[in-house]
Amino acid sequence: MMSSRPAVCLIAFLCAPVCRKSGVPPPSSVTHGAASVLQPGGETTVPYTLKPSFSKPAMNLPHEQRSLFYAGQALAKQPWVRAPTTTDTRDGLGPLYNARSCLSCHKNGGRGVMPKNGSPLTQGVLRLSLSGSDAKWGGVFDPNYGDQIQRNSIDLVYQIPATNIGGMKARLKREAEILIYWEESNFSYPDGQKISLRRPRIEIRDMGYGPFPKTIRLSLRNAPPLLGMGLLANVRQEDIETGADPKDRDRDGISGRVNTTWDFEHERAAPGRFGLKANRANLTIQIAAALQGDMGISNPIFSAQPCTETQNECQRGPHGLDKEGYEISLTLFSMLVDYVRSFGVPARRQSRPEAVKHGEEYFVEVGCDRCHRPSYLTRTDSEHPYLSEQTIWPYTDLLLHDMGQSLSDGRSDYEATGREWRTAPLWGVGLSKQVNGSSAFLHDGRARTIEEAILWHDGEAASSRRAFTQLSPSERDDLLVFVRSL
Ligand code: HEC
Ligand code: HEC
Repeated sequence: MMSSRPAVCLIAFLCAPVCRKSGVPPPSSVTHGAASVLQPGGETTVPYTLKPSFSKPAMNLPHEQRSLFYAGQALAKQPWVRAPTTTDTRDGLGPLYNARSCLSCHKNGGRGVMPKNGSPLTQGVLRLSLSGSDAKWGGVFDPNYGDQIQRNSIDLVYQIPATNIGGMKARLKREAEILIYWEESNFSYPDGQKISLRRPRIEIRDMGYGPFPKTIRLSLRNAPPLLGMGLLANVRQEDIETGADPKDRDRDGISGRVNTTWDFEHERAAPGRFGLKANRANLTIQIAAALQGDMGISNPIFSAQPCTETQNECQRGPHGLDKEGYEISLTLFSMLVDYVRSFGVPARRQSRPEAVKHGEEYFVEVGCDRCHRPSYLTRTDSEHPYLSEQTIWPYTDLLLHDMGQSLSDGRSDYEATGREWRTAPLWGVGLSKQVNGSSAFLHDGRARTIEEAILWHDGEAASSRRAFTQLSPSERDDLLVFVRSL
């Protein structure tokens, strides 16, 4: 067992001199397949299996913590139900909601599946806002619908569609249905090779609470993968800030900014790290927001129901409050956060080592590593020793970058502008499809392949994308083989 062990000892040995001090990678990011890079999650790394998953427990998660892990998994996987039920531990769904469980969007810990052309969105969310900003909430939301559309309601009409036969009307209307249409366009490489790209067009139907103001801004967001969340939580803030260059002083065309968000637990401003626009300060806030916003489960951080002031039926309930006054108790909430914190990272695959080696050189040559920063040493963490001082390879600087107009959602989120997104971690990216069938990359899931994702890069990443398109087809192929091996 523990096939990762020998390699792990090697990591410490090989990497110690360069990265122990600050977690900053060596100046050249080319690793030539050094042992540590094959174990991207350090000692948490989970060996490759034919059915990979992004929600497996960290390999080094102590045995005695595993039963709690599986209890957390049950909370994330089993559907929540409407209140009241005989047990109060799993009721309180909605009244308005998007999904009944965390893992129905993040299936196997992976990314969401995007709908076929003209079909309803099921595993992502549609965020809403008006112009203006708000230091605490990150934006100004729609007065009737709030900060995102809830596609479902606990009303019987939606729960048991057969009850709708006689034209029965819902008392508690869902907010709306979201249909996604894909618009295709062609991209030609300088060498003549062509590839089709698609972008989403959003159609909103069956609006239950009146029309939007004309100035509404919509942002489609696909559920991102959850591997290695606890390791990313343990990247030192100083290490992230070292990479930031908000005024682009080194004039390389790449800035990189830290978002400033709100820590709802301690009621103070805090740098953002999670969420597609680095719009959540930490895992606790991210998960509390998901419980409330996506599932309608009130919790110790967000104790309100997911209803706006104008949604009277929603306000009236039913709600599934427990003795503490929330729909999930502090104990179960902490168990859920610890569960997400302890996901490992799958080991790298090296099926074409020569291509991987060259591909990595091209990756650095065209400047992908300027944002997709390869490596860190995580902070010392006595509370979670298995996440402590691990050499990890997530390939992200966790900073915001202006990605150009085509990727813009026109919607600011705390200090992030419409054009800015957090650099997506690339670890595990090549396993996406095997994990749950989805290879819907980028924030809105528009890219069907890694190649398409690269071709949408613009703004600060424009020169990197251009350099990629100028590689020869076989060089591009090597670069893609490398990215898929991560
Ligand atoms: C309706 C689908 C949906 C459900 C249900 C859902 N999520 Fe998410 N999740 C998302 C989307 C979309 C994002 C990106 C949000 C953003 O940045 O605006 C996200 C982001 C996250 C992130 C941050 C990932 C990162 O890379 O920063 C974590 C962690 C997470 N979700 C955990 C959970 C947990 C735990 C639950 C259950 C309590 C849950 N999610 C329920 C769709 C969902
Ligand atoms: C200026 C910074 C920057 C550079 C340079 C850059 N990227 Fe990215 N990359 C990002 C950001 C930000 C995102 C997220 C964009 C979004 O979600 O819309 C991203 C997303 C991706 C994704 C999608 C991952 C996912 O999970 O959805 C892939 C793949 C990717 N980049 C690969 C590359 C490669 C390969 C290169 C070099 C050719 C590169 N990137 C250069 C910032 C950058």
